[in-house]
Formats: sequence, structure tokens, C-alpha cells
Amino acid sequence: MARIISPSFLSADFLRLGEAARIVNESRAEWFHLDVMDGMFVPNISFGMPVVKALRHATEKILDVHLMIVQPERYVADFRAAGADYLTVHVEASTHLHRTLQAIRDAGMRAGVALNPHTPVWAVEEVAESADMILIMSVNPGFGGQRFIASSLEKISRLKDLLLRKNSAALIQVDGGVNRDNAAQLFAAGADVLVAGNAVFGAADPVAAIQQLIEA
Ligand code: DX5
Ligand code: ZN
Repeated sequence: MARIISPSFLSADFLRLGEAARIVNESRAEWFHLDVMDGMFVPNISFGMPVVKALRHATEKILDVHLMIVQPERYVADFRAAGADYLTVHVEASTHLHRTLQAIRDAGMRAGVALNPHTPVWAVEEVAESADMILIMSVNPGFGGQRFIASSLEKISRLKDLLLRKNSAALIQVDGGVNRDNAAQLFAAGADVLVAGNAVFGAADPVAAIQQLIEA
């Protein structure tokens, strides 16, 4: 099983994004997690295509773009042009989710589907074959630095069962409140990719913090 860390740049110092990219480049993290928020799907507004594009020029690692926006299908081509490798949309935000996932793949990206904490795992039952990754939100999306919702752990196991039953090779990603105290449990439950914002950029030594998460 993969043990991938995807540091969330939402918790980085936006005045020093280049420096944050350099740090993650030198670390064992394989992905960059970029949280795009529109002030509609979530209460917060973060950043959009120009920042994704700038970070594309700062790394050769995987750009893992998490869209917390309504009707994400409107921007598939733009995020591809900006350099996204994975594009994740919320099941709650896209009416024609199956078509949206197809559009993401057709554009040359890997397609992710995110589930809010209240959304049951069976919501992805019919799109398991169309997704390269399923993201379990373990906080209510919108902000970094929130507390992990404990029931998310069981949700990973339920998702794992569903993917096995569907013969799907989709990765399982967990996002929100991930830290060195819960990382081992999350990997053991079946997570392949852990997103970590505060646990990485809030640490005195982010490179060491990433290593601790991988070796948790
Ligand atoms: C929350 C975002 C997360 C966030 C995680 O809406 O999707 O990616 O940055 O931050 P931490 O790890 O601090 O909970
Ligand atoms: Zn995220």
C-alpha cells in the first residue's frame, strides 16, 4: 500500500510560497495538495488557477488540486492548463458527477471525488470505476487546523470494502486534522494518501514532520 503525504499549502505562508515549495521538494512528500475554495461551497475563499500555475513552475511533484467550489465542471480545462495532475471535485457540488469525472480524465488528469463528513460512502458506489481517487474529508471543509472527526476512521474501512467489491484501484485519500498521532491508524485502515496542512507547515521542521507522518 502506498504511503503518500500531500502537504496542504493552505497552511503555508502565502508570502513565501516559493520557499514552501522548495521545502516540500526536498522532503519525502510525493504530492502537493492545493485547496481551491470559492466562498460558496465552503465559507472561505482561498486561491485559484494563478497560484496553481505558479506552483506548477516550482515543482515536478504531483499537483493534487482539491476543488471546494460549486459546479466544478466549469473549470476542468482551466485547472488542466494550470498544471493539475489530480483534480478532485465534491460529490455534493457536481450534479452530473459521472460526466464531470469523465471530463477530468478526458482532459488528461486523474479524477478524484471528495465526500464531506456527512456524506455516506455509498454516494460513490456508482462512480467507483470512474474515479482514480476517493477523498474522505475528516473535517468540514473550508479551513485548515481543525480537529479530526473520529468517525472518519471507520469510513475508510467502509470505503475500502466498497472499492474491493467494485474491483476499483482508486486511491483512498484522507484530508483534515491529520497528524502524527493518527497517521498510523489512518494508513492501517486503508488510506493511501494523507493530506496534512497544519501538521506540516505548523511544525518547526516541516521536512522532519513529513518524515514522521510517513513513518508513523
Ligand atoms: C480543508 C482542506 C484541507 C486543509 C487541511 O478544507 O481541504 O486540505 O488544508 O488542513 P489540516 O491538515 O490543518 O487540517
Ligand atoms: Zn484539501
